[in-house]
Amino acid sequence: MTDVPNESISSRLAKLKSQPVVLGIDNLGKTYPRPDGSTTTALAKVSFSVHRREFMTVIGPSGCGKSSLIRILAGLEDATSGQMLLDGKPDSGPCPDRGMVFQGYTLFPWLTVLKNVMFGLKMGGMGFDQARSEALQWIDLVGLTKFADVYPHQLSGGMKQRVAIARALANKPRILLMDEPFGALDAQTRAQMQAYLLQIWQNVNLTVLFITHDLDEAIYLADRIAVLGAPTPDIPHGHLQEIIDVPLARPRTPEQFTSEPFLATKRRIEGLIHKRVVPTMVEPLPMIKLTQVGDEVV
Ligand SMILES: Nc1ncnc2c1ncn2[C@@H]1O[C@H](COP(=O)(O)OP(=O)(O)O)[C@@H](O)[C@H]1O
Ligand SMILES: [Mg+2]
Repeated sequence: MTDVPNESISSRLAKLKSQPVVLGIDNLGKTYPRPDGSTTTALAKVSFSVHRREFMTVIGPSGCGKSSLIRILAGLEDATSGQMLLDGKPDSGPCPDRGMVFQGYTLFPWLTVLKNVMFGLKMGGMGFDQARSEALQWIDLVGLTKFADVYPHQLSGGMKQRVAIARALANKPRILLMDEPFGALDAQTRAQMQAYLLQIWQNVNLTVLFITHDLDEAIYLADRIAVLGAPTPDIPHGHLQEIIDVPLARPRTPEQFTSEPFLATKRRIEGLIHKRVVPTMVEPLPMIKLTQVGDEVV
């Protein structure tokens, strides 16, 4: 969706929400068995929808079930309850309709960049010449044409993730699922990757569900943010707390990081995520003193 310059942010979001639902998540739950025979409920009763061309982020503290959710959505794990719908149809296991980019580098180290991107296309039955020409287009789109013939170990972390994005997009997925894809990158490369990803999303007919635990990243990238909460004594499983509209115009710019709407959104999410972490919940550390008398920090 291209932005109309004078369109207000809220009417842009309303228009987005009127788009068809690409991914429907309906009362999804996941329970894992424990070695002692009991179970852990990682996630329960999660429902939300991602609309065509939407960029949605999912944020939540560690252990709230983010990776469980995205693995179910990718078809890599079964849900224990509920269901997901892709274009209104029930899920049917892993398929090229869903592209996936993980935090860890998942390129085949023995294949060049070009062959990595061609891999899925050839597996899908495409002939060599067509696979090569399509792969080169995707490599061009992520700005790595000069690196098509090098091996993954010759690339920086950010470049590897750009190849992973090209590889996922080459299969023309209906939705791109990303699980903390920039989590292992240094701050500067991470900011660059966020800018690249937004450009790619603008230029390709793409719907994105992006998981992160970084508040700035969640806000900067998203149209809407699904905030998950970790288990608490009252709600003993990961759960959806709220869906937040991001009140920022597009295209996004680094100046927005310090704008009042950005900071207000950040405070709101911080309040949701951290509200239950009170100092009494942090266990006191053993007080072994390794300082000399007279050497204390004052
Ligand atoms: N394969 C598994 N087997 C057992 N427990 C798991 C498994 N995967 C995740 N869990 C548990 O489910 C909960 C949610 O984990 P996860 O989905 O990885 O959360 P997040 O990605 O938000 O950190 C955690 O308590 C975790 O220990
Ligand atoms: Mg995780």
